Amino acid sequence: YCHTTRAGCSPTPLPSSCCTCHGGEESDIKDEGGNEPVTEDDADPEDLEVFYPTDQWQTLRPGQAVPAGSHVRLNLQTGEREAKLGKVDVNANSFTSQELKKALAKMKESEKAREEEVRKKFRPIEQLKEEFEKLNMKMETDYEIMVKLISKFNSSASTLDEKVAALYDLEYYVHQVDNAKDFLSLGGLRLVIEGLNSSEATLKEHAAFVLGAALSSNPKVQIEAIEGGALQKLLVILATEQPLAVRKKALFALSSMLRHFPYAQQQFLKLGGLQVLRSLFRQKGMEPLHVRVITLLYDLIMEKDSQHGEQMEEKRQQYQQVRLVPAVLEQDWCAVGPRLLALPEHDSREKVLKLVAALMAVCRERYRGDPALGTALSLLRSEYEQLAAQEQQDGDMDGYFGELLGSINTIIQELR
Ligand SMILES: *[C@@H]1O[C@H](CO)[C@@H](O)[C@H](O)[C@H]1NC(C)=O
Ligand SMILES: *[C@@H]1O[C@H](CO)[C@@H](O)[C@H](O)[C@H]1NC(C)=O
Repeated sequence: YCHTTRAGCSPTPLPSSCCTCHGGEESDIKDEGGNEPVTEDDADPEDLEVFYPTDQWQTLRPGQAVPAGSHVRLNLQTGEREAKLGKVDVNANSFTSQELKKALAKMKESEKAREEEVRKKFRPIEQLKEEFEKLNMKMETDYEIMVKLISKFNSSASTLDEKVAALYDLEYYVHQVDNAKDFLSLGGLRLVIEGLNSSEATLKEHAAFVLGAALSSNPKVQIEAIEGGALQKLLVILATEQPLAVRKKALFALSSMLRHFPYAQQQFLKLGGLQVLRSLFRQKGMEPLHVRVITLLYDLIMEKDSQHGEQMEEKRQQYQQVRLVPAVLEQDWCAVGPRLLALPEHDSREKVLKLVAALMAVCRERYRGDPALGTALSLLRSEYEQLAAQEQQDGDMDGYFGELLGSINTIIQELR
C-alpha cells in the first residue's frame, strides 16, 4: 500500500511511485521495485532498434526494424534471419517443410539464449530493491518525517485539522518499534500524553490513538508513558463523560499500556482502573466497548496465569502483586459475562465464553446461582449443535462452531 496522500511525503522525481516518501517498509518496495512502469513519454526513441542494411548479409536481432526494400532471408544453418540491401526475393516455397521446421526450432532456441542474455544484463531484483531503499533513505527518513509531524502538532500556528492530521500520520509511523523509540526521544510521547487532556475531543481521541500504537509491544515506551502520567489520564477519560470514539481509543491505549507490563497492571488496580472499566457496563451508549473490556480482562487473567516456569523472578513477583481476583469478586465481574452471552455475533460470544470459563474457579458459586446463565447456555448449546452439525456435513470436522459448542459444554459441565 502506498501513502501518497499522507502528509510529509515529498514529491518524487522518479516516475514510479509514491513510495519514495518514506524509507520504511519492505512491502512498498516489493510492490513497486519489480515493475517500474515506463510511460510512453519515458520511452527513448533511441531505444528503438533500426537495422541498417549493407550489401553484406547481416544477422537481424529480434525486434529490429528493417527498412523497406531490404533483402531478408532465413539462414537455415543458424535459424537466424539475415538481411542486406536489395530487393526481397525470399520465396518460402523454395524450402522444404522439414527445413522450415528445423529453422523455426533454431529460431526459438536463439530467442531463449537472448532471454538469458537479457536476464544477465539487468540487475537482479534484490539488488534493485537495495538501491531503491538507499535512494529512499536519502530523500526523507521516517525520522525526518516524524520531526515535521511533531512540530506541526506542537505548533500554535497549526489549525485543529492540521494537528489531527499530524497525529493521524504519526500513528502510522510509531507502529514500528524503532520509530516509537525515536518518537520518545523527540519529545513526541510527552506531547501526546499532554494531548490526552486537550479540551478538544478529537485531539484527545487521536492522541490516545498514537499513544496506543506507540505502546504496542514496546517496553521502553510503556515505562516512559507510565512515568509521564499516561495511565491516570487514560483512566480519567474512561471515567468521565466523553464521546464514545474518545473512550474507544483510550481503551485501546490502556490495553496497549497494560499488556505484558505487570507494573502498569498493579498501578491500574491501585488507581481503581478495574472499577472504572466495570462502570462502563452501567452507562448507556458504552455497549460497543463491552466486548473490548472483557477481552482485556481475559487477557490479563491469562497473562497472569501463564507466568510460571522460566520467567524471571522479578517479573514473576510483579505478577503475583497483580491482585485481580479480589477485585473481580468485589466488583462482581461474575455478573458481566452471563449478561453478554445474549450478544448476536459469534466472535463476541466466543470472547464472552472465554472469560466465563477463565473466571470459573472464582465465580462458580455466583454462576450457579444465576438462572439467566443456565438459560443462556442451553439456548446457545442448541444453536451451536445445529451449526456444528451443518459444519460437519460440509466436511469441516474441527470447525469453529464445533469449538464453540465444546466450550459451552465444558462450562455447563463445570456448573453441575
Ligand atoms: C513544543 O513547543 C514548545 C513551545 O514552542 C517548545 O518549547 C517545545 O520544545 C516543543 N516541543 C517539542 C517536542 O517539539
Ligand atoms: C490535565 O490532567 C491532569 C490530571 O489528569 C490535571 O491535573 C490537569 O489539570 C489537566 N490539565 C488541563 C490543562 O486540563
